[in-house]
Amino acid sequence: MIKINSTLFGKLSAQQFLQKYWQKKPLLIRDAFPNFKNFLNKEKLIALSCKEDIQSRLIRFQSRQWTLDVGPFKKHYLSQLTGHWTLLVQGLNYFLPEAESLLKTFHFIPHARLDDLMVSFAPDGGSVGPHFDSYDVFLLQGQGTRLWKISKQNDQTLIPNAPLRILKNFKSEEEWILNPGDMLYLPPKYAHHGIARGECMTYSIGFRAVSAEEITQAFLMFLQDHLHLTGRYTDPDLTLSKHPAEISQQMIVKIEKMIRKIKFNKNDIENFLGAYLSEPKANLIFDPPDPAMSEKEFFKLAIQHGIMLDLKSQILFTHKQFFINGESFTVHAQIKPYLKKLADEREIMLSLNTIQKIGFLLYEWYLNGYVRIKTWKK
Ligand code: SIN
Ligand code: CO
Repeated sequence: MIKINSTLFGKLSAQQFLQKYWQKKPLLIRDAFPNFKNFLNKEKLIALSCKEDIQSRLIRFQSRQWTLDVGPFKKHYLSQLTGHWTLLVQGLNYFLPEAESLLKTFHFIPHARLDDLMVSFAPDGGSVGPHFDSYDVFLLQGQGTRLWKISKQNDQTLIPNAPLRILKNFKSEEEWILNPGDMLYLPPKYAHHGIARGECMTYSIGFRAVSAEEITQAFLMFLQDHLHLTGRYTDPDLTLSKHPAEISQQMIVKIEKMIRKIKFNKNDIENFLGAYLSEPKANLIFDPPDPAMSEKEFFKLAIQHGIMLDLKSQILFTHKQFFINGESFTVHAQIKPYLKKLADEREIMLSLNTIQKIGFLLYEWYLNGYVRIKTWKK
């Protein structure tokens, strides 16, 4: 069982939060993280936005115009910015252990829905404009204060030709000032506008919800690699035609029959979904150990310190199989509880007995850079 931070929603339990608010209505949680340790600051965030493998964006509002730049940035460029700007750095849980620990607070929501941690920095007045997101999001105030305005409005008209999606007619219905440790939950499509009051950092914990179009397109790609159709077009009944350039109705019908032989079942969906959801994002590259320790040394340290998933790794499972970073595998029933624990909690302590059972798998993953010896304290 995942332990839930009992203070996260104040008097509300995580179960009550899911019933009353999740995907339904916003919730402001004062002091959700009473002793929140802002593990980033302006300088650190700027340094992260200069890295090749980290996705970052800079949004500015100047002379009544919105502009969007995409990182990696140069440090001196960001350090001399003036006016109203916001730096957004995405996917920090793949790079910072403290970010992953923060996400663990949200493990009462399935990993298949959890997306990533984005952190923003803005000087006084900085904002990304009024907008709505397609995802559920928890907006946690990390440093300074931010004025949040929200609206249930149905009007989703956007400013034309802007480089980002800004609502043209935002009409605030509720407003709050958030202080460090306060958090605002917003369901998808809920209009919001955050404005920095003094220097401000906001942590966005986002949840993915694939669109029907996106998931279907991905499934069609998957099917392409897993199709085994036999037969070939034949036309022993061919007759003379007046127009050799015409595609005949007979041909269309025969091809339709062929294509309709595409079949898939729940198993195919399961195989596809596990691989799709556990697939690392395109910018993430694993870092295999170099030099790698021997199996014997690895087992010794694994028993001493435990094993954790690499920050970029994801294990998901269904009732039948497991998926690690886009690859599916099945294991003996005896091993399943250990792998489920590692998948749920992203770390596991190991006894000699456990190492004897799953050590071979863990060592292989260690060589791929998928797991590591647990090296930091929570
Ligand atoms: C921000 O942190 O400035 C923007 C986050 C959001 O509105 O989703
Ligand atoms: Co937003």
